Amino acid sequence: METSSKSTEGREVLPGTRPEGASNEHEAGQQVREMFTRIAPQYDFLNHFLSASFDRLWRRKTAKRFADILARPDAQVLDLCCGTGDLLLALARQASKSGQPAGASSKRYVGADFVLPMLAIAERKQRPNRAGVTFVAADALVLPFRSAGFDLVTTAFGFRNLANYESGLREIARVLRPGGKLGILEFCEPENGLLAALYRFYFTRVLPHIGGAVSGSREAYTYLPNSVRKFPQPKMLAKWMEQSGFRDVEFERWTCGIVALHSAVRR
Ligand SMILES: C[S@@+](CC[C@H](N)C(=O)[O-])C[C@H]1O[C@@H](n2cnc3c(N)ncnc32)[C@H](O)[C@@H]1O
Repeated sequence: METSSKSTEGREVLPGTRPEGASNEHEAGQQVREMFTRIAPQYDFLNHFLSASFDRLWRRKTAKRFADILARPDAQVLDLCCGTGDLLLALARQASKSGQPAGASSKRYVGADFVLPMLAIAERKQRPNRAGVTFVAADALVLPFRSAGFDLVTTAFGFRNLANYESGLREIARVLRPGGKLGILEFCEPENGLLAALYRFYFTRVLPHIGGAVSGSREAYTYLPNSVRKFPQPKMLAKWMEQSGFRDVEFERWTCGIVALHSAVRR
């Protein structure tokens, strides 16, 4: 697992993803962008197939976790690394359940991603256009939004792909208003030894074959288990969040501990 290193002030310096062959942050971002551009057409099918549709449940549970904010008539919500839009649309559906559909009053639901083909699929899914829901091309490390403008920022299976976790958390903290909430949904290795072994077998031996064959990009589905292996375990991510401007950091593991939802409040 990738660990953070100490800076001269003793503060932890957080790493970022480094796909095979990327030697710096710029190359890492470029490679991640190209990889998701290649797999965008098959992304949804593979997501549901490879997770036996658990991914839908995880997004619904994430939306429920923030039901209090989504029920507000003026909620301003940002889903980062939104991909094909499934989490943002789950958040909007949760809002409708509370009698406060996304288009009601001054609610604003924004999905942001830096891969246009992913956004194009997201746009198609939300037709006929749900008022108040928009998708925007943006890099999570330099967001084109004013400071303190959002009540909730979420990201599902996206944060791990950022080329610089520190800049990512800093940008999220910047666009959240004080008291606003952050939710990060990510894969993690189960704590139970047997389950962890099964998980690794599936992720490294089964998933790259199926993902590679269907998407035509073996590299993308080899990158997935590698990036999960290098990503910090939940306790470490919680620590990073605390040192990056968040309080009340909590996490819960779901589905035998293979995913974790971190939540926190912007200080
Ligand atoms: C594994 S997908 C997750 C998509 C979606 N959130 C979901 O739940 O299916 C990761 C997404 O993160 C996006 N991404 C990675 N780095 C990004 C960055 N720096 N800025 C914006 N989007 C980024 C990719 O383009 C991709 O769509």
